[in-house]
Amino acid sequence: MASYRSKTSSYITVPVFLAAFLGIGVIGLLAVSSSKRPNLKYGVSCEMVNVVNEFPHDPEAFTQGLLYVENDTLFESTGIYGRSSVRKVALQTGKVEHLHKMDNSFFGEGLTLLGERLFQVTWLQDTGFIYDRNNLSQLGKFTNPMEDGWGLATDGKDLFGSDGSSTLYQIDPQTFEVISKQVVTYNGQEVQFLNELEFVNGEVWANVYGVDCIARISPKDGKVLGWILLQNLRAELLTAGNQGIDVLNGIAWDGKQDRIFVTGKLWPKLFEIKPYPIEKTEGIIEKLCLPETLQFGSS
Ligand SMILES: *[C@@H]1O[C@H](CO)[C@@H](O)[C@H](O)[C@H]1NC(C)=O
Ligand SMILES: *[C@@H]1O[C@H](CO)[C@@H](O)[C@H](O)[C@H]1NC(C)=O
Repeated sequence: MASYRSKTSSYITVPVFLAAFLGIGVIGLLAVSSSKRPNLKYGVSCEMVNVVNEFPHDPEAFTQGLLYVENDTLFESTGIYGRSSVRKVALQTGKVEHLHKMDNSFFGEGLTLLGERLFQVTWLQDTGFIYDRNNLSQLGKFTNPMEDGWGLATDGKDLFGSDGSSTLYQIDPQTFEVISKQVVTYNGQEVQFLNELEFVNGEVWANVYGVDCIARISPKDGKVLGWILLQNLRAELLTAGNQGIDVLNGIAWDGKQDRIFVTGKLWPKLFEIKPYPIEKTEGIIEKLCLPETLQFGSS
């Protein structure tokens, strides 16, 4: 069900979209290379993305957690009271192969897999859940030590979490105590509203609530190493008539094949993306990725 989209069309449509919809005017975005990572010697990197593949995604899924396991299989956590769930999803078809419906009193949030167990946090409550990855049966609960439950990820050893603030938490998966906390900053400015998280090549990638941006964060000191701009995905969905889509939310990484997947709440598609470096123009990150205030629905 995947379709290939040419690089040429992305190169043309993305800057046009940015200029037209965000009123930036001439932004002079320049593709340096479509295969190489940017050279960090010159500071924080900035990337845009080519869509390599598109897969169907349940348009009713209010995506709050996303991760790739193997064999073209994803795990996903969804929110909304009465509709919250943990699911095993086939990448190619978007088919939900297994679904655990949560109790109506919980709003599902970030999800991660550590060993054989899935860990999930919930919104506005300090209850977290642990599930068996093989059948999604609930194995236990834990107390989320963060202020709230938004994103969850793992480096294979500890849990990393976000609660909608600028803090990235490192959490012990046995005791659920906070091991360390980093304030995420870009050029000395705090990056608020950190949402869904994923470990990618030793970095923590976080999409920022309400904007189409991913911050690539150093888990050591919380510094933003780079930004990925994804405005072209929303533009494509809106152009195709999907007016009901909510925010970008959900990053998954297939480490073996180095594939990156993203989706959003109520998005009918899941995109495989390939970032490519661009030259960062003055003020573009502040404008696109660092909202000063937000009106909250739910994280
Ligand atoms: C993935 O596929 C392999 C080979 O078919 C199989 O042995 C393995 O159990 C599968 N893993 C999962 C998680 O389904
Ligand atoms: C789920 O799978 C585990 C093995 O991974 C098994 O021990 C457990 O009994 C299963 N639970 C249910 C409800 O089937």
